[in-house]
Amino acid sequence: MDAGCMREASDIIRRGGLVAFPTETVYGLGADAANPAAANNIYQAKGRPSDNPLIVHIGDISQLEQISEKLPKAAYRLAEAFWPGPLTVVVKKNGAIPRETTGGLDTVAVRFPSHPVALALIRESGCMIAAPSANLSGRPSPTSAAHVAEDLWGRVDMIIDGGDTRIGLESTIVDLTEEVPMILRPGYITEDMIRRAAGAAKTDPALDREDLHTPPKAPGMRYRHYAPRGDLKVVQGAAEQVIEEINQRAAADAARGLSVGIIATEESAHRYPTGRVMSLGRRDDEDAIAAGLYHVLREFDGENVQSIYSESFDTPRIGQAIMNRLLKAAGHQVIQV
Ligand code: TXA
Ligand code: MG
Repeated sequence: MDAGCMREASDIIRRGGLVAFPTETVYGLGADAANPAAANNIYQAKGRPSDNPLIVHIGDISQLEQISEKLPKAAYRLAEAFWPGPLTVVVKKNGAIPRETTGGLDTVAVRFPSHPVALALIRESGCMIAAPSANLSGRPSPTSAAHVAEDLWGRVDMIIDGGDTRIGLESTIVDLTEEVPMILRPGYITEDMIRRAAGAAKTDPALDREDLHTPPKAPGMRYRHYAPRGDLKVVQGAAEQVIEEINQRAAADAARGLSVGIIATEESAHRYPTGRVMSLGRRDDEDAIAAGLYHVLREFDGENVQSIYSESFDTPRIGQAIMNRLLKAAGHQVIQV
């Protein structure tokens, strides 16, 4: 983007306005993290409950020290290993970031993104930027400027188009306020990667479990993040059985007059004669599956598809993050074959 545009975006941030911008994960809806009124504008534009805290985006590691207290060694190790990049750390906050930004918590979530446009906006505005994903509350996170415009046109001061985001799923969130670093939201940076860098790691046991009485620690993971308009079910099992099961159900739904959508891979897409089939790419290309998931869910919403079946994607690295988002979208409706 040209310098004049970036100057205008930075002016908007400094004045307390809202700029949607690309990051390497998903698009963010940015405002000055130190300005309580600006943080409130974010909640209003998204229709988001104000007790769900925002991530503060920084452009330099020293800014982590400026806004936090009692940084543990793990924070430095993780910063060294993964910043700038798709990792968010939760640490004790000091008074520099107002309670409006952090939803009243005594901790703050901090991320140093690697996308050049995000970094330019942080540096040129001179502000740390509070940014949730730039979707309306309850919709999938946006992976293109068109998705942002779909949800937020007229509700924000500027949308910067940086093309499709590379990763397509939100950052990994790691809580560093207790002894062992705990993943609150899985993402591109996996538990193994965190363990290797910080010496230890675990995942919030309340994630993906609706039977536990303790809710997930990240407030945003407590809500049914996103429910497609259609009824989404995830089918798990051996490849051939999954295809057969989906085909039977798709045919039965179609016979009842329902429109059907199927989330498949390049290998299987041609095996589904009934319904609108969308492929996420090759089954072994988990980067493509992660990058395309939200787009496909938005497409089905746009077409008012009523009944959606998805294959399952337990891929080795980002599989945990992909399945976390997919199962949440499905309200944990799983068909085991
Ligand atoms: O990749 C990302 O992280 C994107 C881009 C824009 O950076 N941002 C993003 O923000 O996904 P958002 O607001 O959609 O998700 C932030 C999550 C929410 O689940 C929120 O509850 C959690 O982070 N969170 C924020 N501050 C927290 C804190 N102090 N303690 C625990 N969870 C926190
Ligand atoms: Mg979000």
